[in-house]
Amino acid sequence: MKKLLVITGSLCMLAIQTNAQIPARTFTVIPAPVSYTLKSGFYTLKPTSAVHATGNGTEKVAAMLARSLSTPTGYHILPAKSGDIKLQLLAKKDTALGEEGYHLQSSAAGITISANTPAGLFYGSQTLLQLFPKEIESKTVVKGPSWQAFAIDIKDKPRFGWRGLMFDVSRHFFTKAEVKQFIDDMVKYKFNLLHLHLTDDQGWRIEIKSLPKLTEVGAWRPLREGKWANTPAPAPDEPKTYGGFYTHEDIRELVQYAKDRFVNILPEIDIPGHSMAMLAAYPDLSATPGTQYTVNAGEKFMEWPPNAHFYALKDNNLSPANDKVYEYLDKVFTEVAQLFPFEYIHMGGDETAKNLWEKSEEIKNLMQRENLKSLDEVQSYFVKKVEKIISSKGKKLMGWDEILEGGLAPGASVMSWRGMKGGIAAAKQNHQVVMSPTDFAYLDYFQGERSMEPPVYAGLRLNKAYQFDPLPPDVDPKMILGGQGNLWTEQLQNFRAVQYMLWPRAMAIAESVWTPKERKNWNGFINRVEGHFGRMDAAGTRYAKTMYDPIIGAKYDDNGNLVLVLTKEFEDMDIHFSIDESNPDQYYRKYSEPFTLPKDVANVKMVSYRDGKQVGRQINISVEELKKRAPKK
Ligand code: ACM
Repeated sequence: MKKLLVITGSLCMLAIQTNAQIPARTFTVIPAPVSYTLKSGFYTLKPTSAVHATGNGTEKVAAMLARSLSTPTGYHILPAKSGDIKLQLLAKKDTALGEEGYHLQSSAAGITISANTPAGLFYGSQTLLQLFPKEIESKTVVKGPSWQAFAIDIKDKPRFGWRGLMFDVSRHFFTKAEVKQFIDDMVKYKFNLLHLHLTDDQGWRIEIKSLPKLTEVGAWRPLREGKWANTPAPAPDEPKTYGGFYTHEDIRELVQYAKDRFVNILPEIDIPGHSMAMLAAYPDLSATPGTQYTVNAGEKFMEWPPNAHFYALKDNNLSPANDKVYEYLDKVFTEVAQLFPFEYIHMGGDETAKNLWEKSEEIKNLMQRENLKSLDEVQSYFVKKVEKIISSKGKKLMGWDEILEGGLAPGASVMSWRGMKGGIAAAKQNHQVVMSPTDFAYLDYFQGERSMEPPVYAGLRLNKAYQFDPLPPDVDPKMILGGQGNLWTEQLQNFRAVQYMLWPRAMAIAESVWTPKERKNWNGFINRVEGHFGRMDAAGTRYAKTMYDPIIGAKYDDNGNLVLVLTKEFEDMDIHFSIDESNPDQYYRKYSEPFTLPKDVANVKMVSYRDGKQVGRQINISVEELKKRAPKK
């Protein structure tokens, strides 16, 4: 019997029941579209299907979609002059769809995606792929699934034009193939901006032909594989074989690869701080003469006292007082500007430790000469000079929010990372802003139970990332370009670790920058994320299942007993636990309220279940650790 299902809008989990042959599935599109009407029935992909490219730049998008549909099905689907999957640019612009929106119609008769631009067709294609079963993500042929996509009508467009992910390729070098994989993964979720953090203390990753030592020296260090910041400094004669960089050819190839997928690449050259790799190549660019520089291999050179300002043990800054610095930066930005077509260049500007500047004669002289009253003004002087260089290359400067200190350069845009306040201040001064606050968007932070995750200094759970809203109240929306997630890689030595940190939190960021705020829904999102776990398994993409980890706390009651306090990222999950050292399953005690631990308990072991199935990993925590987590009375 056929049960018709026409549902408009709501993004709950939907079991589709149309007839006995069609398996129940869920609507799992991420980021959630602006609006949709689910119809009855399915479109079925066939060996004879073809992607009808209708000219005007639709061919490349059609070819990419055809490839995605052919790989897992084994069908030879090609772009063609006719076909049951039609990609069309609208003859008359639909202003409601904007530059990146699309209209997708799917029925038993075929698929039509319409848009004002090829980018819109590309995003419509990404949504279409998500309507097929998870095996569509497989990189090899899968026999068995019926290749059906929901019959549906979707109208969709992004909330923000800047939907970014930052990838730090300096702390650890990632190959060109890995950067392409990163792009492939991000475009599935409709990100359109890849921010490459190309230089830092640990490596200079872009060839600058006029300054060859930047990569001959600055791209290499001895291999250290252990715990970050726990490592011995490189000995002067130690072979420096670990690292790498992108040649001009590599960069051109990456830029084109990204462009074909409607992604802009924002290059970052992080100065004046974070410059140890540049100083290893050209040591006389610092304001602390005589310092022996090597590319940092992970050893500590900066102090971060808990309640005081950070300071450097070794000066990792370029000197704002040295004309040669600007001469060299002019060479760097000349080549960077030629290689990257994107309108912005990011100059970093973050975390400049000024304690060694304070001692420098050349900086003192500069302050006197230029009438600079503070070291913040010294940094601002530097940023303003860099802005002149960058704008002389026809580009706009972007920097981390520290560039506000001492006065913002006239044409600068700000990437706000220390919360949103820097972004708000910059927007109020009529500067453009990208929001990427640590509170919601730092994807290098640990994401589950901290004792089980690689050690990092702060945590960010999926549900917090999902609360990201790049547009603060009382700020002119025109000044907020959008938002992005940042993936620093100090502790990420390989691409599997990169993917683990990205997913699923980058999905939460994607939905925060694409989907209208009022259409976001946390419980619906969790259901859809679970659907995407299956898709990522099929794709071979790594991800974290830490959203199932209980949030483990403790407190002392009035009688001094230790009490276990568990909370969850979402309600619809059960936590079962043991206190007797055995490994729990779903027949063990279910956590429902704070639990007073008897004095003889040494460890608590817990595991999460959803719909009767184990979803989380078992977590064991000692009473000693729980005592540390209990607020002192
Ligand atoms: C930053 O996280 N230092 C921008």
